[in-house]
Amino acid sequence: MSYRGLIMAGGTASRLGPVTQCVSKHLLPVFDKPMIYFPLSTLMLGGIREIMIVVNEIDLPAYEKLLGDGSHLGIKLIYALQSGANGIAEGVQLAQDFASKHGLVLALGDNVFFGNNLVSSISEGLQKNCGATIFLQKVADPSGYGVALFDEDGKLSSLIEKPKDLKMGQAITGLYIFDASVFEKSKELKPSSRGELEITDLLSFYLDESSLEAIELGRACFWFDAGTPQNLVEASYLIRQAQQRLNCQVGSVDLIAAESGWISERQLEKNLEKYTHSDYAKSVRDILFHG
Ligand code: G1P
Repeated sequence: MSYRGLIMAGGTASRLGPVTQCVSKHLLPVFDKPMIYFPLSTLMLGGIREIMIVVNEIDLPAYEKLLGDGSHLGIKLIYALQSGANGIAEGVQLAQDFASKHGLVLALGDNVFFGNNLVSSISEGLQKNCGATIFLQKVADPSGYGVALFDEDGKLSSLIEKPKDLKMGQAITGLYIFDASVFEKSKELKPSSRGELEITDLLSFYLDESSLEAIELGRACFWFDAGTPQNLVEASYLIRQAQQRLNCQVGSVDLIAAESGWISERQLEKNLEKYTHSDYAKSVRDILFHG
């Protein structure tokens, strides 16, 4: 099955106020790059080259300025508008015409992943998916996330969205693989008590059909939901440390496009020209040309 990508970059981001009164959360910097580069790079690392980005209408010009139609990265980007904070699963409905003949890989716009086993985990998910696939990670306090619970036999038994007082279970990260039945399933959803079409409810349809797979990312993979001030700062520090100590780039869509052979060195240089003296441009050139 072929897959198309979807990035959710709308919403109100009130947890990051006041700055999000005037700037889209997903354009805020995580160390040296806009946050949206991270989910975009996650999809690109999974080999996904046709991607829809869901944004608020007011922010659309900024995204178009930053990422355009994606041709400078050797990918195709289109944008869809979400009119309110109606939930992640509403984004799936918006992608129906774009992806109904394909499967869908959904990445939340504030989720940052990096680590050695990320690419292999995504490929495993894409190869084995026969319904939906979620990626899990153990966290100290899962109560702020969707949580997956397992029965005594180690079988996935239930999914709960932001369970109060629950100190067990694994957090469901913001990366999901769906088959094309997701579009019909999303029409069955009813708004939750907070008035949103919940991703966890959508995944529960697959769990009920026994077609939900879970891949544990494990300790070799870092995962951040950068949607709070604390997490945003921590993610920035971690990315800085990883990049400086390992002389690598995390979330560089330019580098991924060049290393994948999707763009020429000339195009890469053209991309970097606009901010040629930035540390980011220097780092990308250094890694690509001097290894
Ligand atoms: C969303 C999902 C939640 C998931 C989390 C991952 O929560 O609803 O299930 O665990 O993303 O980042 P949000 O951060 O939008 O409240």
